[in-house]
Amino acid sequence: MTADTTAAQSAAYRDDRAHVFHSWSAQALLNPIVVAGAAGARFWDTDGNTYLDFASQLVNVNIGHQHPKLVAAIKEQADQLCTIAPFHANAARSEAARLIAELAPGDLNKVFFTNGGAEATENAIRMARLHTGRHKVLTTYRSYHGSTAAAITMTGDPRRWANEPGIPGVVKFWGPYPYRSAFFTTDAAEECERALAHLADVLTVEGPATVAAIVLETVVGTNGILVPPDGYLQGVRELCDHHGIVFVADEVMSGFGRCGEWFAVDHWGVTPDLICFAKGINSGYVPLGGVIISEAIAESFATRPYPGGLTYSGHPLACASAVASINVFKEEGIIEHARHLGDDIIGPALADLAARHPSVGDVRGLGVFWAIELVRNGETREPLVPYNAAGEANAPMAEFAAACRDRGLWPFTHFNRTHVVPPITISDEELRTGLAIIDEALDVTDKHAVA
Ligand SMILES: Cc1ncc(COP(=O)(O)O)c(C=O)c1O
Repeated sequence: MTADTTAAQSAAYRDDRAHVFHSWSAQALLNPIVVAGAAGARFWDTDGNTYLDFASQLVNVNIGHQHPKLVAAIKEQADQLCTIAPFHANAARSEAARLIAELAPGDLNKVFFTNGGAEATENAIRMARLHTGRHKVLTTYRSYHGSTAAAITMTGDPRRWANEPGIPGVVKFWGPYPYRSAFFTTDAAEECERALAHLADVLTVEGPATVAAIVLETVVGTNGILVPPDGYLQGVRELCDHHGIVFVADEVMSGFGRCGEWFAVDHWGVTPDLICFAKGINSGYVPLGGVIISEAIAESFATRPYPGGLTYSGHPLACASAVASINVFKEEGIIEHARHLGDDIIGPALADLAARHPSVGDVRGLGVFWAIELVRNGETREPLVPYNAAGEANAPMAEFAAACRDRGLWPFTHFNRTHVVPPITISDEELRTGLAIIDEALDVTDKHAVA
């Protein structure tokens, strides 16, 4: 994407290119737009281009941009107390922890606050290892858990490769993915059964008594919006109970309304031992994440010190914005709105796209968390672009993204997929406008597909 003349001449652009070192990128190849502002489901650049944010930035702006109540809460907290060390009690932190504990399932009653998702998954496995006295951690291929040392080792996607060998003791297994089954299944029930049998087998050969934790994205996010078949999470819960393993649900992306529930596990009525959260907790207005902890695990650290901490654990500005965000969710019925958007608009619209566009192989999701998986051939399911494609090999996806942006929509694309993940507060009308743009942009990918 090219920044045009006005942006490219700005001090923001020049200083960025001279001094900002960006995530995940070959620095010299970047050409960012300069963002001037945002409101609700839209953001705009200094050249006057406005985008419907169908990515919620990095699937974190659940409540929309610049929600006045969050902005006011941050200002109010800033006037009162900007920062305080983690060992003091503080009203904003205490209230945020209580509200989160009240929302969490079962007896997950304590919250360890972090600055984001990776620190949450790092600390979750630290807790699990110390609680069980075991060292191994099982995670899935096709997952993302963050980019710090343990989190990137847990990650089951190509972002891990350049970071290997990583930390010891992390073992990968295959999770369910009915459209591209690792188990040669033909329906979701069979996928569930065989995925659980596979996990049980992996546990047997790894030695269940060596396994501290199984870490799962409740609904896999970046790696494909893989919604687990009914019964899968219950089955994982049973395996964990049977072997005394800690079940960690990584809800950094899937939590806080994204799946039409406070926590995605609520959709299946499953209670994990630890839930990792970040992103949607306060829509990233101030960096915040954390781990919600069961009574039994918290009890492990009642009289022995927990060997982990962060200067900004429970930062007042972040916690005040979390309190405001949770209250807005309740006052504005945002969970209900997420269900409505998924059930009444996105689900039917994507089914319609799948029926009309030969390049659409599969559509899936729930709440405001959906994927459109693109293929060259609907019969063979050959992906539109190869796994982890870059450069020329990724051209069809790049063309699709450009077609969206040209029409005023900022898409989320990953490998051979585009995800429909706008702010949960988006209006019906804006959502329909965005879906119509995707419909048009799919004409571009259709040209690469067998009709
Ligand atoms: C499921 C999941 N876990 C963890 C993370 C890492 O979060 P952060 O980037 O805040 O460290 C992400 C980020 O995308 C995520 O999607």
